[in-house]
Amino acid sequence: MADWIRLMDADTLPENAAVTVSVDGREWAVYNVAGEAFVSDPMCTHGEARLCDGYLIGHEIECPLHQGRFDVRSGEPTWSPACEPLTTYGTKTKDGVIWLWPEPNV
Ligand code: FES
Repeated sequence: MADWIRLMDADTLPENAAVTVSVDGREWAVYNVAGEAFVSDPMCTHGEARLCDGYLIGHEIECPLHQGRFDVRSGEPTWSPACEPLTTYGTKTKDGVIWLWPEPNV
C-alpha cells in the first residue's frame, strides 16, 4: 500500500529551481515554481537527459539536450521535440517538508 514519502526540506530548494532527489534508490525531479512544489520522473521522455539540468521557465521545464519542454503540473509536452508526457506525482508541503505520493497522477 502506498504511503507519503518524505522528499526534502522545502527551504533547501530555491524558488524557480529543479533538483533530482533520490529516496531508497529511486529518483524524482522536484520543481519549485514560485514556492509551489511539483514532482515528475527525472528523465526526459525524448532521450537520456536529466530534466533537473534544464531550465525551469514558469511551469515549464526545458530539457537540456534538445530543448523540448513539459508542463511540470501535468507532464504534458509543450514544445517540440518532446511529444510523450512525463509522469507526474502528487505532492504536499507540510511543516516545511515536501512530501511525495508515489503513485503516478492519471
Ligand atoms: S532528450 Fe529531452 S528533448 Fe530530447
